[in-house]
Amino acid sequence: MNGKFPQHFLWGGAVAANQVEGAYQADGKGLSTSDLQPQGIFGAITPRTAGDSGIKDVAIDFYHRYPEDIALFAEMGFKCLRTSIAWTRIFPQGDEETPNEAGLAFYDRLFDEMAKYGIQPLITLSHYEMPYGLVKHYGGWGDRRTIDFFERYARTVFERYKHKVKHWLTFNEINMSLHAPFTGVGLPQESDKSAIYQAIHHQLVASARAVKACHEIVPEGKIGNMLLGGILYPLSCKPEDLLETQRQNRDWLFFGDVQARGCYPAYMQRFFRENGIQVAITEEDRQTLRETIDFISFSYYMSGCVTADPAQYETARGNILDMVPNPHLASSEWGWQIDPIGLRYLLNVLYDRYQKPLFIVENGLGAKDRVEADGSIHDDYRINYLNDHLVQVAEAIDDGVEVMGYTSWGPIDLVSASKAEMSKRYGFIHVDRDDAGNGSLERRRKKSFYWYRDVIHSNGASLKDRR
Ligand code: BG6
Repeated sequence: MNGKFPQHFLWGGAVAANQVEGAYQADGKGLSTSDLQPQGIFGAITPRTAGDSGIKDVAIDFYHRYPEDIALFAEMGFKCLRTSIAWTRIFPQGDEETPNEAGLAFYDRLFDEMAKYGIQPLITLSHYEMPYGLVKHYGGWGDRRTIDFFERYARTVFERYKHKVKHWLTFNEINMSLHAPFTGVGLPQESDKSAIYQAIHHQLVASARAVKACHEIVPEGKIGNMLLGGILYPLSCKPEDLLETQRQNRDWLFFGDVQARGCYPAYMQRFFRENGIQVAITEEDRQTLRETIDFISFSYYMSGCVTADPAQYETARGNILDMVPNPHLASSEWGWQIDPIGLRYLLNVLYDRYQKPLFIVENGLGAKDRVEADGSIHDDYRINYLNDHLVQVAEAIDDGVEVMGYTSWGPIDLVSASKAEMSKRYGFIHVDRDDAGNGSLERRRKKSFYWYRDVIHSNGASLKDRR
């Protein structure tokens, strides 16, 4: 894989505030929607009561241990670390006039620590959480006023960190609201489609406002969107399967189309009409949406298949989206189908569609690890997964796709989003904590730690084409 990756390729890892920080009430932080989902993003919404606790309340205690963790990332040679800002550290309820200084100061310390090692931050404004106060008092993104609250928050952090953070993302996996509306847009899980698309519309307008604000405030700043890149293949070459695949891919590409092209794509008119979906869109909204992102970012874990035949339809176990299993692919322990070539395909699809630079901001293997008696962890399965995906990234670069960087998901073990488990581990760094919250939180290097260090140091030359 010699010479395929560009010289300034941003190698690194990605985490999210609610999955690593813990300290869920420290320094004036308010409750976020994530704090009310102790079982993960599909779990029940559970009101907090005095003295209760959940795995995310401490997570991996990154809030206090970040200097040690950043030093370990630096040891691997990270050029970039993706994390999110917890909106509730800055505006605890969401609708305050002035921000919480203690929350702002935390991220100053974090970014300064990264700067010591030359690690660039890539910051998501909202990663699967929002202030619960906005849900309680305004109905989340269902209310147009949430756009203004978000813009205030975005402008506050752009002003504060404009000299420290040059790469920004708006909403994590923005298309997930279709599957997890409470997590995505602060709506009840059983909301109807009109309500969900209205809230999504507000979020898309807010995203465009953040893009405009970033362009105004951050010198040389670049801001992207973030899609769950759940690319789908037809299960067969039957034309009906192909059409259904196109339709289902448009479910998620719709978000990218609005954010990258600046308007609603034509196909949505028929979709809204045939599904009885009403969305109020003002002329001012249409103008706002014209402010488009600078680059496309996405997560990629798996691909899936689509069939138009209901009899053949089967839900792939563990997949976030309802996908039909691909008979040609193996699965992870969580039933996520492993498809490195799908990443090359997806990169090409997105580049053909948008002609904007792409950033792979999540990719990785969730697996159970065994700590040997001598403390070592031989995670060859993780090395193979990441190696094979990066080989396909190199192929896509060779195809002519502009790829800015790659941040693997969970470079340090963290709390999983879908089930709030610690045992689903992604890290190069092991964290001693189990699903019940027991453990010392001690950090330990896995075999993959040294492997990734070599990949970064060699700028991809050490990758092995195992096909
Ligand atoms: C993405 C999310 O969906 O996938 C992350 O942006 C999440 O927050 C990751 O952690 C992996 O999913 P899980 O459920 O294995 O944590």
